[in-house]
Amino acid sequence: MSDTNRDLDGALALSQAVRWPYRRDDWRVALDLGQGLLAEADGEIVASALWWSYGDAFATCGIIIVSPAMQGRGLGRALMDTMLEATSDRTLLLNSTAEGHRLYEAFGFSDIGTVHQHQAQRPAMLSPFPTGPVRRAQASDLPAIVQLDRHAFGAERTRLIEMFVRIGTAMVIERDGVIDGFATCRPFGFGQAVGPVVATSTADAQLLIGHFITEKAGQFLRVDITGDSGLGDWLTAQGLPEVGNVTTMIRGQRPPLMGPGRIYALASQSFG
Ligand SMILES: CC(C)(COP(=O)(O)OP(=O)(O)OC[C@H]1O[C@@H](n2cnc3c(N)ncnc32)[C@H](O)[C@@H]1OP(=O)(O)O)[C@@H](O)C(=O)NCCC(=O)NCCS
Repeated sequence: MSDTNRDLDGALALSQAVRWPYRRDDWRVALDLGQGLLAEADGEIVASALWWSYGDAFATCGIIIVSPAMQGRGLGRALMDTMLEATSDRTLLLNSTAEGHRLYEAFGFSDIGTVHQHQAQRPAMLSPFPTGPVRRAQASDLPAIVQLDRHAFGAERTRLIEMFVRIGTAMVIERDGVIDGFATCRPFGFGQAVGPVVATSTADAQLLIGHFITEKAGQFLRVDITGDSGLGDWLTAQGLPEVGNVTTMIRGQRPPLMGPGRIYALASQSFG
């Protein structure tokens, strides 16, 4: 078995030990798109921390895990030290669980928002949502999707979006020849994850997510929405209740967001 396979096996066992739903493929995508630290003790992976850099000034980080048996011994602090060194002066954005919050505060992160995890196993039969201006994305839409995302997220995520389109599907909203919203949906965890969702209104975000609610009937569906998205009650009414939330934290200055599109659902809690 190659080192990479061994690392993936160990990483998967680590995330399972803290009951995260990551599959082997989810780890592979995360490692492909970013960089990471894995700590090993007695032949086992006992801790992880990953980051995804966007240029020299900004990165997101996540999948910061210490195995239950090793927690409370300073390993989390050591991971953060090494990661901050590796990401140098970049602004860092993360989504913190309650367990991680004190650790991140100690490293100068402060709260800037919340993310709400909505998910459920979907019934097999659903009446279709109105589609309106929603259509399936084509290869020629990619530059417009990347630009919309860059303005809403504050950094260019071409590789991430290309990867999500490759392993999943993307829908766009087009009006008068202009693309002003998009959403991707890909296999993740127990089923499918919708996001990122970038739109210019809550109604458009609902159209995009609604498409996948219909398309993925019979499957497990997850959406991680921003606290100011205005989508929580609507998702709950669609049978996708909130099952948990995390706090968005930042260390440094977030790159300016340009709109008019904004992020309604994250690529993932780790990717931001
Ligand atoms: C968060 C986590 C990575 C911390 O790792 P760790 O090795 O236990 O952390 P350390 O021993 O270096 O302690 C760092 C700080 O975190 C605090 N801390 C550690 N575990 C904690 C817990 N379960 N709840 C609250 N605070 C915790 C410690 O009190 C310490 O702060 P202090 O020195 O001011 O007392 C670890 O608890 C973990 O993997 N949790 C499950 C996965 C998770 O939620 N990760 C965060 C994702 S954003």
